[in-house]
Amino acid sequence: MNIFVGGTDTSAATIIWAMTGLIKTPNAMKKVQEEIRDQVGNKGRVDEDDLGKLPYLKAVLKETLRLYPPTPLLLPRETMKSCVIEGYEIQPKIIVYVNAWAIARDAEYWENPTEFWPERFLNSSVDIKGQDFEFIPFGSGRRNCPGMSLGLATVELALANLLYSFDWELARGMKAEDIDTDVLPGITMHKKNALCLVPRNYLCT
Ligand code: HEM
Repeated sequence: MNIFVGGTDTSAATIIWAMTGLIKTPNAMKKVQEEIRDQVGNKGRVDEDDLGKLPYLKAVLKETLRLYPPTPLLLPRETMKSCVIEGYEIQPKIIVYVNAWAIARDAEYWENPTEFWPERFLNSSVDIKGQDFEFIPFGSGRRNCPGMSLGLATVELALANLLYSFDWELARGMKAEDIDTDVLPGITMHKKNALCLVPRNYLCT
């Protein structure tokens, strides 16, 4: 049950947010599709073995998880003993939330924090695994996400195949700026208004 609850919703939301970020940023869409198609060639699908050759795709995914972390407040946790953080005293047995969404948009740590700009991760040592506290979409510490590797592999593979096989267009009359990033309330951050895109089969053209 943990695997279904923790693993499906988060991975699905990540794919939708990645497509949202890419359709709103055409130069990133072009660059990631070129990388995938150059590296994979004409074989008709992206396999798990290809993912290691796709650094820009990985940067796109990190940028997606930075701007749109599927669990923006991580999971509620209870303090075991009192502690003081930056002058604030926190009592034992208090429910605390960590606002990973706000941390990942903090202008003190991120240049142009609200911009979807995957290049920021290309020559950066900031990783996703919970050691860099400005970027913790999977949490940190002993109760961080146990499904991180599976989640990343699932999302990378699905996203790579969507971007490899299809060119994506906006519905007739829509402009990129019409695509909003409003969210529904809930522990997992889902897009409020469905993302409607038109796929064109690249492999058959
Ligand atoms: C993109 C995909 C995913 C994201 C962004 C994500 C994110 C998170 C976050 C932020 C937490 C809370 C960590 C904390 O409080 O410090 C968490 C916990 C958890 N995740 Fe994930 N997750 C993803 C995929 C998965 C997958 C694929 C599975 C299982 C197969 C999974 C299973 C769990 C479980 C069981 C917990 C609770 C761990 C605990 O409380 O000890 N997650 N996840």
